[in-house]
Amino acid sequence: MRVLTVAVLISGTGSNLRALLDAAAEPGFPARVVVVGADRQADGFAHAEEFGIPTVMVPFRDFETREHWGAELRRQIDVWTPDLVVLSGLMRLLPADLVDAWAPALINTHPAFLPEFPGAHGVRDALAAGVAETGASVIVVDGGVDTGPILAQERVPIVPGDTEHTLHERIKPVERRLLIDVVRAIATGEIDLASYAAASDAP
Ligand code: GRF
Repeated sequence: MRVLTVAVLISGTGSNLRALLDAAAEPGFPARVVVVGADRQADGFAHAEEFGIPTVMVPFRDFETREHWGAELRRQIDVWTPDLVVLSGLMRLLPADLVDAWAPALINTHPAFLPEFPGAHGVRDALAAGVAETGASVIVVDGGVDTGPILAQERVPIVPGDTEHTLHERIKPVERRLLIDVVRAIATGEIDLASYAAASDAP
């Protein structure tokens, strides 16, 4: 079976990236990370360097517009012709033309049970809402903010006394497991992303 090549985009610690790198290091895992990109000098680059994987940094602040940033990010990532681009902790919205270029081979992990609590503060918002549970989701990225087709999701309990940090740290292991399962399913063809393209293009 051909190994799926994956680009991962991050902004932070890259713990989800690390989980994917560890999984891909297992014999027989049908995908491998070929490049790690970020919009800043992300701490998670250390994981890529440990695995000898090239990194690409395209600082958002160096560009006049989101579109110019996106065009440079695309140019640098596409050098590796990844089969799949994974957003995992990238704290930037991609410009629409970049989503169009990469989708449907463009997925995102989110620390909430979408469509509940989309956006950059899903963990904080769930906590503030006083609900008993939230979750983790993996979606196909579309033109909206965390609005794309859901590929996998699972509930995570909120416990009394949770802080944003303790809750997020409870969500992340679930998020990592879902991400690894989804990447494996895409690599084996169990998930056919092309079918989502049809869905997202539908009028
Ligand atoms: C993850 O929960 C991701 O879904 C969210 O930010 C977190 C990134 O964590 N967007 P890490 O950088 O993978 O540790």
